[in-house]
Formats: sequence, C-alpha cells, structure tokens
Amino acid sequence: MADEVPDSVVELTGWQQELRAQFPIIAGHPDLAYLDSAATAQKPRAVLDAVQTYLTTTNANAGRGTYPWANRTTALVEETRDRVRRFLGDPVPERSAVHFTSGTTEGLRTIARDWLPGLLTDGDEIVVPVADHQANIEPWLETRRELARRGVRIGVLPMPYQQASGDYDHTALAELTGPRTRFVAVTHVHHVYGGDMNVHRIRRAVGPDAVICLDAAQSIGHLPVCVAAAADVDFVVFSGHKAMALPGSGAVWARQARGPAFTPGGWSGTPNTVGIASLAAALDWLEAAGTDRIERWTVALAARLTDGLRHLDAYEILGCRTSLAADSPVQHRQGIVAFRHRDIASGDLGFILFSHGFMVRSDHHCQGDAGERSESVRVSLHVYNTAEEIDRLLSVLASLG
Ligand code: ALA
Repeated sequence: MADEVPDSVVELTGWQQELRAQFPIIAGHPDLAYLDSAATAQKPRAVLDAVQTYLTTTNANAGRGTYPWANRTTALVEETRDRVRRFLGDPVPERSAVHFTSGTTEGLRTIARDWLPGLLTDGDEIVVPVADHQANIEPWLETRRELARRGVRIGVLPMPYQQASGDYDHTALAELTGPRTRFVAVTHVHHVYGGDMNVHRIRRAVGPDAVICLDAAQSIGHLPVCVAAAADVDFVVFSGHKAMALPGSGAVWARQARGPAFTPGGWSGTPNTVGIASLAAALDWLEAAGTDRIERWTVALAARLTDGLRHLDAYEILGCRTSLAADSPVQHRQGIVAFRHRDIASGDLGFILFSHGFMVRSDHHCQGDAGERSESVRVSLHVYNTAEEIDRLLSVLASLG
C-alpha cells in the first residue's frame, strides 16, 4: 500500500488507514469507491454511536421541559453552539451567535430573508458570486426583489472571476466595489472546480466595513476554517451532512461586529436535536482526525487525479487550469476535480463509472448561470479515499480514451 500513496503524504498512510476503517459503509463495500463527498460525506462510527446514544438515553425536546432528559437536551444544544465556535477558532465567542439550520441552503436563505434587508438602504450594493452554487446566488437576488417590492433599490454586482483559474479576481473586485458596497457573498471552496477561493484576500479588496458571508459547505471538515486568523468574515454557513453529521443539520455562525445583530425571526419550533448531537460528534471526530491532515491527504489525491488526467487526451479538466499540481501558487485545488470526456456525455460517463464501482456526480452540479454551459463528471474526495481508488479510476478512464 505505501508505495501507492503520494510521496507528499506517505507518512499519513497509517493514520488514513485507521480512519478509513472507522466508516462502516466504506468498510462494508470494499468493491465500491465513494467519490461524491461534495454531495454528502459518509459518517464515522463515532457519529453513528453518538446518535444511537442520544436517542436511547436522553432524547427529549430542548428548551421546554424541566426533567433531566429535557435539561440534558437543552444543554446539548447550547454546548454544540460552543462546539461550533471552538471549531471555527472564534476569537470572541461571547459575542458571536450560532444558529442551527437544516444546512447551507437554509442558512444562506435565513441571512438573506431575516438579516440582510435590515442592513441595506436605497442605493446600496451587494456582490453575488454568480458562478458559484445556486444556493449562494438565489437568496441574495430574492433579497433584491423583496426590497424592490418595498421601494428600496439595491445594486447587484456580479463577482469578477479570473478566466483561466476560476479564482475570484480580487483586483477587479477592489475596483468594482466602493463605499456603497455593504455585503459580499463568497465561497470558500468551489463546489465544481475545487478551487480554494482565496477568501483571505476578500477583506483587503472590499475594505473594512463590508459584511462578508462565507459559504463553507465544501470546506468545513476538509481543511482548517479559522475565523480568527486568515478569514475576517462576518458569517460562516455550512451543512452538517457534508461534515460527517446527519442530513438536516447545519449552522450559521455570525460574528456580530458589522451591521445589525443576527436574530433569525419567526418561531423556531423543535430543533433538530438528533442532528445537533451528530454535529457535535462529527466536529469532535474531525478535530481529533486533524483537518490540516485531511486537507493534505485529499489535496494529494486530487493532484494525483489531475496529473493522471492531464496525460489522457480525451479529457478536459475544469477550473484551476493553471494549477493542476498541488503546490501551484496560482489557484490551489482542494479535493474536488470536475472533468469531461471529448465524446462521451458526462451523464453516460457517470453510469459507465458506476458499472466499474465508482460513485461520482455527473450533471450541472447546481452551478449558477455564469458557470459551465454543459455537464461534467465530478470526483470529490474525503479522508476515506485512497490512492489505489484514484489509480483504478484513472485506468478505467484511460480505457475509455
Ligand atoms: N451542494 C451539493 C453538491 O455540490 C449537493 O453536490
């Protein structure tokens, strides 16, 4: 096995094998390769056990009853808010807010519906990342429509992108924005291209006062996400299910330093207590595993795949075009690679790949209108994937050349 592992991560082999064995669905299907973690991640035994333990020991509603199970559940919800803050390296946890949602889409919508209208006045502008996931585009356009119904006109500035790499064009963004630019929506890792969108450069481009909202759906659990250091952002939004927790869980973290306080409106109803229990366990697991090591592992596998694809004439790799290698200073690719075959439609290629045991996503990937015009196959990786799976995939792709 060791000689199949990329040189750059050879010392992580034992660590990775130990972690891979903790995923029952992966261990139970040795002939299949799950390469669709950007859609949803598999769950380690620790998360499954936490769900089972919660449901069989203290399951109750939160914030209502006063008996021990209810108190324990209420405490679980509050403790998990703190768990999220710690996971994000929140430097002022007593000031920030953590709001649980069903996932990134609902989180972004909640900000757009309940908070953003209170920030904006007539003539303000917002920046929308028009080639990113639709979930990070549509809510902001809906805010504009809602404000227009109230007689408030705001400008929508399309985020500029660098053609060759797919990265944001931070220089053009600085020229585009001004004092009326109040809100900037960005993505941490692009869900189709896998590009790390260099969000640490956004603050300098847009100035000290604009609110930055980070869609971290594809970065939480894949790499360190720290709001204390590189990313001076105001919101971080993510889904639990892509971070190894249950579907229907997720969170909005709000710094509460710019604009009105983030207080989602309406009746919240019963929280997803099981999802919250799974999220706490997943964040514990990811922290123990080490998101820095997970990043090194998946970036190395993605580089192995792009390096292999580069030698296959029939395939076009999307995005990060100037950065096929892991150490490129131009556009650093995380563990997501999208590509097309010259003659085989991507949907068909997805079926062919499954007949060889590979589970990939092959469609438009819910990308905004400014994105790709046609479908692609997307391979997205997590810590349970191996170099052997990548090599097997490359050999099947080569046989279709
Ligand atoms: N947003 C998820 C994806 O990119 C579902 O596949």
